[in-house]
Amino acid sequence: MTRAQKQKALDRIAQEIRNCKICKKDKIGKAVPGEGVPDADVVFLGEAPGKLEAETGRPFVGRAGKLLRSLIKEAGLKDEEVFITSPVKYLPKYVTPKPSDIEHGRKHLFEQLAVIEPKIVVLMGSVAAQAVLHEKFAIAKVHGTTIQQNGITYFFSYHPAAPLHNPNLRLELKKDFMELKSLINQK
Ligand code: URA
Repeated sequence: MTRAQKQKALDRIAQEIRNCKICKKDKIGKAVPGEGVPDADVVFLGEAPGKLEAETGRPFVGRAGKLLRSLIKEAGLKDEEVFITSPVKYLPKYVTPKPSDIEHGRKHLFEQLAVIEPKIVVLMGSVAAQAVLHEKFAIAKVHGTTIQQNGITYFFSYHPAAPLHNPNLRLELKKDFMELKSLINQK
């Protein structure tokens, strides 16, 4: 697919997400399909939109997002070179996504990944890891490491909201992104 065809396919998926009745059940605000370049080498996956994201329809524009976008720069990438999204596309009323939200989110997420064909997918937190790899992971154990599957490198990191709850994790998250930087430089 050309870049323009990929963009068209992503726009179609975003529209499907906006119209999806299953996604919308028990959720608040706008759909947040994700944003970035259609042929990004690196995709960043979070959990679910927060309040500001649900108001704007844009991913990672709140406090965690500011941190993520600065870490992306520190890792040597521009945020216009990557694609940023979350496995769950709406803010749940109960905030933390239910297993059924994660399960359903896989449908839209895998469609997006099939179009983008990234080299590296950064799984930021346990919801992203579970959504993509269909298995539960303890991020405290696996962060900073990778798994290869079907030609894609999956990199585990803490979620950028983690240091907002536990300031000790700020350094761990920074280390994860330094590790990611060296991984990207090897590709
Ligand atoms: N946290 C997420 O996981 N995704 C967003 O888009 C914003 C905050």
